[in-house]
Formats: sequence, C-alpha cells, structure tokens
Amino acid sequence: MRFVLIGAGQRGMIYARTAHAKGHEIAAVAEKDPVRRNTAAAEFGIPAARSFASGAELLAQPRMGEAAIIATMDRDHFREAVPAMEKGYHLLLEKPISPLPEETLAIERTAERTGRHVSVCHVLRYSPFFREIRNVITSGRIGRVITIQHNENIGNYHIAHSFVRGNWRRSDLSSPLIMQKSCHDMDLLVWLAGSKCSSVASFGDLTYFRAENAPEGSAERCCDCSLRDSCRFSAYRCYLPLAGSWPAAVLTEDQSEEGLREAIRTGPYGRCVYRCDNNVCDHQVTILKFENGITATFNLSGFTNRMTRTMKIMGEDGEIRASEAENVIEITRFSANATEKNGSEVIRPELVPSGHSGGDSGIVDDFLSMLEGKHSESATEIHESVESHMMACAAEQARLTGAVVRLADFRKAAEGKTNT
Ligand SMILES: NC(=O)c1ccc[n+]([C@@H]2O[C@H](COP(=O)([O-])OP(=O)(O)OC[C@H]3O[C@@H](n4cnc5c(N)ncnc54)[C@H](O)[C@@H]3O)[C@@H](O)[C@H]2O)c1
Repeated sequence: MRFVLIGAGQRGMIYARTAHAKGHEIAAVAEKDPVRRNTAAAEFGIPAARSFASGAELLAQPRMGEAAIIATMDRDHFREAVPAMEKGYHLLLEKPISPLPEETLAIERTAERTGRHVSVCHVLRYSPFFREIRNVITSGRIGRVITIQHNENIGNYHIAHSFVRGNWRRSDLSSPLIMQKSCHDMDLLVWLAGSKCSSVASFGDLTYFRAENAPEGSAERCCDCSLRDSCRFSAYRCYLPLAGSWPAAVLTEDQSEEGLREAIRTGPYGRCVYRCDNNVCDHQVTILKFENGITATFNLSGFTNRMTRTMKIMGEDGEIRASEAENVIEITRFSANATEKNGSEVIRPELVPSGHSGGDSGIVDDFLSMLEGKHSESATEIHESVESHMMACAAEQARLTGAVVRLADFRKAAEGKTNT
C-alpha cells in the first residue's frame, strides 16, 4: 500500500513508521514545520517533489496513494479529510474527527457519498486490554450489564504539559477536554454498553491551574522563577530528565540539554502553569444513560499520579474491576452471602509493546488488512466513531448550560447545521 502523510508530528509519525516498518510505502508528506518535514522525508525516502508544506498543497496534486494518514491538529481535520476523500484516499484519521459536531457529521456523509473508508484513531478499541474486557461482557460471565463506573486518570504532569501549557490548553484553538481527551472514553462506553447513549449531564471546571493559585515568589516563566528547583511543575524538572522521549520530545527537535533549555527559556512549555492562557477544564464528571438502560458515570481528572484508566462494570451476576496500568481485569461473580465465596478470576491480557496498550499498532494492522480486503470495515469506522463525538459534544453542552442533554435532540440540531 502507498500512504500519504498529512501532519508529520508525534501521532502521524507513529502511524507512518508502523506502516513503513511493515513494508508499505510513505509516498508523500505534507508538514508545516520544515525540520519535521525533512525528518519524515529522509526517514521514508520521500523525494523533494513529493514533500509539501501543507495538506492543501499535497491534496492539490493527483492522488499519490491508496490512503492518507491525517494527523494534523484537531481543527484542521475537516479541511483536509473532505478533499482527501474527494480525491479518492481512504483515511486513517486522528481523533477528534472534528471538534464541531456539524463537521463530524459532514465527514461521515462525505465518506458515505464517496465510498471511502475512514478509520478514526480510537486506538483503545484495538488494545488487548479493552478487547478482553469486552470479551468478558459479551461472554455473559457477569450477566447483563447494569451500570459502569469509568475513570480517566490524566496524570498531574500530563495535564500540565498538554492541557495547561500545551497544544490542547484552549478549547477555541483545539477542543474541549472531554472531546480531546475523552472521546476515547465515550467510544469505550458505547462499545462496552453495546448501545447508543440517550442522555447526558456533566459538571466540571478549571479549578487549579489558575493565577490565584500561583505560589508566592513564582514568576511568569520557569527560567525567571525562584522556585524552579522546588516546584513540581518546574519545566526544568519536568523535561530535562526525559530528553529524547515524551513529553520532552514535544518541546523541540533539538533534544540536547542546550536545546531543551532554550525551548524552556523561550517556548510555551517554559511558562508557569498557574499563568498560562489555558481555559479547558482540569476535572469533569459526566453521567450517561444508554438506550438499552445501562447507566454510567465518567470521571475525568488531572489530579492523579498515574496516567491510566480504571473501570468497574457491574452486571446482574457479577462485577469486573479493571486497571489498565496494572494490566489486571478481575471478574467476581456474586454469591448468596458474605461467607459463600464464588472466587474471582484475574486476567492479565497480552502486553503489546506499542503506545495505548498496543492500540497504536493495532489500528494500523486493522486498517491495512481492511485495505487489503481481508475484512470489510475497520473496528473504528466513521459511522461507529461519530457516536462518541456526539456524546462528548453533548456532555460539553450539558456542562456549559447545566442542562441534561438528549442525544437525539443534539444530533438533530447538528444535522441541521450540516450542508455537505
Ligand atoms: N489517538 C490518540 O490517542 C491521540 C493522542 C494524541 C493526540 N491525538 C490527536 O492527533 C492529532 C495530532 O497530535 P500530535 O500530538 O501529533 O500533534 P503535533 O503537533 O505533534 O503534530 C501535528 C503536526 O501537524 C503539522 N501541521 C499543522 N498544520 C498543518 C498543515 N496545514 N499541513 C500539514 N501539516 C500541518 C504540525 O506542524 C505538526 O507537526 C491531534 O488532532 C490530536 O488531538 C490523538
């Protein structure tokens, strides 16, 4: 297969490298940043004539492959996805499909009209860990699912990096936190519940990463701060020990100590976490009801030590407790009284050495085998993935208005704004 890569940043390079390592060609690249563009071109052997400074330039050329990897920033996806499909490319499209529900639906309609496959990077559906949880549910071992409790533990340094200092700090520039971080979780919930969501309520705020919480004696930037050796958010403490890997790798292509120090001195990641221009929530709770009667609570929080997901799924006959970081899925069937023990079963799914518990390589494998005709649809085909995006947008509307939002009404309103 031949791919074109639009956006050779952190995510785009992961998918392109996975496909390339399996012997597929990365035929062209579009990347705004010249250093990243040259890195991708050199790594994949792409000639200068097929290296472009923007997705629009690449898409103005005749088709150069069977599929496009679109991994630019959230608000660019729509602008690239629609013309790419019109040009004849199937898409491996990063989430969010779009932060706007009407654009999300327009991409779905374009896929239907042009007959293109759009596999949305809801990578967790491909991880052995979440697949195993679903297998346990569908095996009937805990009976019919009644309710789900799901936690997305963002991690304190991760929220500071991505959602306070970084690319996803402002909903007007990227997307609200519930969309950006948790369309994955909305997708997991729909998939595990086996039903569409019918209504949603949500509460949350930006409580901590605000100017009034800045410690006395702190400064606008870490380089000028008297607390730079003691503050846990000091960019020097966050990034210097991690040169070459995430999140330090995001700061600059120059991962030498001098390069990182310069990025901290002048770039966005050297700003004080209490004095950024961030506006997305740092915590949000959401309550959901599904059409099949299942209820769920979802707690999204930046105030955790680990970056991981934890779940409890409660059924008629038993419960599942799952911890992604510990790679443990515990199934306990209910008994007649406290002394009678049914025993519990612990499953430790296969560990795959790729990001998102194996999901990053899993989605590329699935997309490739679909393109090769081994199956007719990917597990995260657009018509499946749109649901999570409607839920995330509806949850954000519920948070902002304080109302319970019915998904059918929300979708109808979004369809009214779509004209593709
Ligand atoms: N699936 C996941 O779990 C997951 C995880 C993180 C991020 N994401 C999503 O992936 C996308 C990319 O995130 P990232 O972390 O790789 O960001 P990034 O900033 O590392 O990569 C985006 C790249 O797109 C380039 N770019 C911007 N405008 C362009 C244009 N018009 N034409 C060509 N290139 C352009 C940028 O220069 C940058 O290199 C985002 O939408 C993000 O929300 C998904």
